[in-house]
Amino acid sequence: MQHVRLDWLDAAGVELALLRLDLVDEQVSGNKWFKLAPYLRQAADLGLRGLISLGGAHSNHLHALAAAGARFGFETAGLLRGLEQDTPTVRDLRDFGMDLHWLGYAGYRERHAPGFWAPWRERYPHLLPVDEGGGGLPGAQGCAGLVGQLRAQLPALGWADYHQLWVAAGSGTTLAGLVSGEDGAHEVVGAMAVPPGHGVEGQVPRLLQAAGRADEGYRLIDASRGGFARLDARLARFMAEFQKATGVPLEPLYTGKLLLALHDEVQAGRAPRGSRIVAVHSGGLQGLRALQERLDKLSRSVPLL
Ligand SMILES: Cc1ncc(COP(=O)(O)O)c(C=O)c1O
Repeated sequence: MQHVRLDWLDAAGVELALLRLDLVDEQVSGNKWFKLAPYLRQAADLGLRGLISLGGAHSNHLHALAAAGARFGFETAGLLRGLEQDTPTVRDLRDFGMDLHWLGYAGYRERHAPGFWAPWRERYPHLLPVDEGGGGLPGAQGCAGLVGQLRAQLPALGWADYHQLWVAAGSGTTLAGLVSGEDGAHEVVGAMAVPPGHGVEGQVPRLLQAAGRADEGYRLIDASRGGFARLDARLARFMAEFQKATGVPLEPLYTGKLLLALHDEVQAGRAPRGSRIVAVHSGGLQGLRALQERLDKLSRSVPLL
């Protein structure tokens, strides 16, 4: 965990610490290992040789899965959204030895249909299918343990406790895991990287119910800025300022939007003076490679915050 000092936090009397999951591993980065580990255990218990999963051409999840497969010697296959394209992420997936299949856009939309996995199970009977983004109950349970890990690091910060835990939400799996792990001890704030109505509001209660937990102890805010993966000048500028002041790199789809939403909440006076907040840095920095040039241009187009 890293305590970060910023003018806007000091002015509001709020303290912030980042749980730097981006530093867990350069390749298997962020929340991904925590979501994947239970599936790997399941695959081992079933005597399978690896995992097959889904994602886009910039997917952090597929990147971490392929990297883990290369590192630990298990097989991986990736089903990709859209038509074949060449991105830094896709090049890495190939280099890591992942089998790639491009499903087109219509084919990818079928991923929740009842018969979707049947042909892939037939083709890869030795691989365990894992939902998009490592979602589902095992993925959430893998993230629940993060709460204990972060609490163990509080003494090193000189903090006896904290008031809120913030995390970016894509599928809501990591959020559901943290809410389970907190079990009502601290409010968890899920900063949605997707606009309202894109599934998080339904998925979190479903996962909590499956985990035998009450649907409480968290709140969702829209951090998407109008669309998943939509970038704008204010976000780009905020990220550049944040990195300059703290030395911590962010990416724009999840962690940049998370911290900008937190900034706006603090500036609006919604975090009481004396609050101590922990925010999860969930990694995803590999995705920056395809976006950095656009971000730099956007960031230069607006004055200082
Ligand atoms: C960097 C990053 N942070 C956060 C998330 C959100 O995780 P979840 O899908 O568990 O909500 C994702 C991915 O989905 C991600 O890649």
